[in-house]
Amino acid sequence: MNSDLQGIHIIATGRYIPPKVVTNDDLSEIVDTNDEWIRQRTGIERRHFSDGEKNVDMAVKAAKMAIDHAGIDTSELAACVTATFSPDYFVPSVACMIQKELELPDDIPSFDINAACSGFIYGMQVARGMLLQSPKKYALVVGSEIISKFLDMEDRGTCVLFGDGAGAAIIELSDEKKYVSYLGAGGNDEYIFCPNADEEKRKVHMDGSKVFRFAVSTVPKCINNVLDKAGISKDDVDFYVCHQANKRIIENVAAKLDIPLEKFYMNLQEYGNTSAASVPIVLSEMNDKGLLRPGMKIVCVGFGAGLTWAGVLIEW
Ligand code: COA
Repeated sequence: MNSDLQGIHIIATGRYIPPKVVTNDDLSEIVDTNDEWIRQRTGIERRHFSDGEKNVDMAVKAAKMAIDHAGIDTSELAACVTATFSPDYFVPSVACMIQKELELPDDIPSFDINAACSGFIYGMQVARGMLLQSPKKYALVVGSEIISKFLDMEDRGTCVLFGDGAGAAIIELSDEKKYVSYLGAGGNDEYIFCPNADEEKRKVHMDGSKVFRFAVSTVPKCINNVLDKAGISKDDVDFYVCHQANKRIIENVAAKLDIPLEKFYMNLQEYGNTSAASVPIVLSEMNDKGLLRPGMKIVCVGFGAGLTWAGVLIEW
């Protein structure tokens, strides 16, 4: 089999959202903001913050749900890849702690990648590459973020946008499923960044309008490249799963590409922007609602700090 032709099949999904809800009204008691402004500018109504849970606690729960739903023997896993920009430690990685907590076999590479909000899609691409070189059948890909720990709760321009959570998927290679990807990066430490060297400033910093403009030009570019490479039209796609940063970004993209907004599933109103966790949380939620049926074509798109971007076509 020509490895270029082997797609990936997501056989199961999982997610974990911490129960602590933080509403827009809650935030208006901390910073000078209000529910109406946040809803109108972002579509976000509430988000969930960890209440003592670590990044790895959420990642383990999402990963366990995906493994349980897949019904696989973990000895058949070829890799454990976690996408995150907010790990609990520089080392050990979140992925290594998932390996420990879920007692995954010790003969599989387990590591984190950081591509910010494009991380889960980068992670699927990395896991696919590892499966192509492994005799084992499955890979675990997780996106998990505890962004609340890295928010400046005095900066109303950023603290209202983000939330915590984790999503996960078990993937296998498939000869039948089409897979096309378009990944890229353009280094930039001005639009959005989170320093680690200076503990005082270890918070997310962002120029919102520059990131907004980056997003509304990058997402259509990713979608068009994926469609061109796959040789299909926008109408052939059943769902577009876009990184859940802002409703206005998604509306802008839908209008620009003349794609019905109903094809863009959104849950940012409930969770805010959960960075690398947002795409797998959407997939898990859609899967549980029975929205995803075998053969459906789904284009997932991520964009974010780095700057990074990523689009993939997967078949369910
Ligand atoms: N509540 C109330 N007012 C706020 C506010 C808040 N939470 N945040 C900013 N404002 C104010 C600003 O201070 C500014 O006030 P001024 O005109 O008196 O200076 C005004 O609202 C307009 O700010 P601006 O930044 O121009 O608003 P905007 O329409 O660009 O919306 C974002 C701001 C952040 C919602 C928007 O730029 C955005 O969504 N950008 C993308 C961010 C993103 O998705 N990042 C993650 C990418 S992975």
